[in-house]
Amino acid sequence: MERTFTMIKPDGVRKSLIGEVVRRYENAGLKIIGLKLMRLSREKAEELYSIHKGKPFYGELVDFIISGPVVPMVVEGDNAVNRVREIMGATNPKEAAPGTIRGDFAEEISENIVHGADSTESANREIPVFFSEVELVER
Ligand code: RTP
Ligand code: MG
Repeated sequence: MERTFTMIKPDGVRKSLIGEVVRRYENAGLKIIGLKLMRLSREKAEELYSIHKGKPFYGELVDFIISGPVVPMVVEGDNAVNRVREIMGATNPKEAAPGTIRGDFAEEISENIVHGADSTESANREIPVFFSEVELVER
């Protein structure tokens, strides 16, 4: 069993895709073990995206992620990190395959509906930014 961190970004919430994203994860046999709806502080956003600090898109990325409510989630299952990334699709929606979340619902790289941890190390760093252990359930 592996845990990963994934989050519906403000554009996903704005486009009423909360249920759609959760359904795709659940249909793939992944289990949601933590979920909340919240607005990120600038501090939390900078913590999530600390690896991108200094890149040309960093400022825009942080401003975007705090522009509206987000839905952070912890998802569990075999190979959860890679399976969530597959369900999300390529970072650039123009390269994302049909049938993936980004391929079906996103148009621009800067607004690509979902975030997903890119490794178990990233997941283990990102989960505690959003959830305390008591907020995660056993199922
Ligand atoms: P995420 O972290 O959001 O799951 O996305 P990712 O791993 O597929 O992509 P990553 O390289 O981690 O980039 C984080 C987010 O930054 C935005 N981005 N913009 N303008 C650009 O060239 C550019 N590159 C990345 C995207 O919104 C991406 O999801
Ligand atoms: Mg990433």
